[in-house]
Amino acid sequence: MENNDFVLLHQRLLEWYDCHQRHLPWRARPGQHPNPYHVLLSEIMLQQTTVSTVIDYFNRFTERWPTLKTLAHATEEELYHQWQGLGYYSRARNLHACVKRLVHDCGGQIPQSPEALLQLPGIGPYTAAAIAAIAYDFPIVPVDGNITRVIARIASLQTPLPALKEEVCKVLSPLRPTRAGDFAQALMDLGATICKPKQPRCDLCPLTASCLSYQTNQQHTIPRTTPKPLKPTRYTFAFWCENKDGDVLLARRPKTGVLANLVGLPTSDWVNDPAELPPILPQWRRVPKPVKHTFTHFHLIIDCFIVKDLQISDTFKDHPDNFHCYPIPTLMKKVINACLASRNALPGLFEQLNAG
Ligand code: ADE
Repeated sequence: MENNDFVLLHQRLLEWYDCHQRHLPWRARPGQHPNPYHVLLSEIMLQQTTVSTVIDYFNRFTERWPTLKTLAHATEEELYHQWQGLGYYSRARNLHACVKRLVHDCGGQIPQSPEALLQLPGIGPYTAAAIAAIAYDFPIVPVDGNITRVIARIASLQTPLPALKEEVCKVLSPLRPTRAGDFAQALMDLGATICKPKQPRCDLCPLTASCLSYQTNQQHTIPRTTPKPLKPTRYTFAFWCENKDGDVLLARRPKTGVLANLVGLPTSDWVNDPAELPPILPQWRRVPKPVKHTFTHFHLIIDCFIVKDLQISDTFKDHPDNFHCYPIPTLMKKVINACLASRNALPGLFEQLNAG
């Protein structure tokens, strides 16, 4: 992008932002400095989650943990519990590791440069650039999916996604915007409200004079895409195993991998081929409809069974009344609800199972 073109675009975009920005709880009010803790927390929450979902979580977190230090002293269990429903739980673990490092090793200060931010757990190049720009006006432009689309349309970049992002980074890397935080957030807001993936509102856009796609009527076909590979499906069994006191067997997921450290009903191994599932024993009661869940890289089909006893390692028991105390991911809530519905629909089932 030529420097003169950029100067004009920067000016028009900031004028638009000053009138039309979204009022979001982590943003500084006009004339105030941003709170770097709020910026860091929001950016980690906003990785893979929409603004509308994050707002409530952000408000609850900052009410409960108003400072970096209070969050560093939260227990892992409490933090996971508050994170429930936001998904991608490795972010919660990394957030905790990150704030503890900042409090214990960095004097409670959040670094100002993207390079230093990149050294922290859970902070990749996009988040490092976003925090540096928004919290400190460090002159850099973060590049996420929305900003990739906006810049690709303005510069009429023909490279398809996902390689396009790299090209957008190259276009933006020489630029040193002033008011870098507002500039980044203006691009985000423009991408979310006007330069939308479908049906962009070019009639409302402040940048049409700079937009090569608009001028050549390509705004609907940029960014170009290549067909996505199909997601594979994996399979597992989940077990509802309840004793006479009504306590139910629970398992904590391994410390690494999908749903790390979270709690749910015990499952068999997750396998790529249903033929690799364990044999179904005659005394197991199958819940009629399997639960389906989609992760980033695969679908999971969970066949649920109500069983009398189960030989499975690393489990513990608790009553369903206490389930709310555990960090239970959405997938496991679906499994528990399916099992509970079956269990309650069959009066006498447990008496039968326990007698049998
Ligand atoms: N997406 C990621 N970071 C954001 C921010 N600070 N404001 C709005 N949307 C965002």
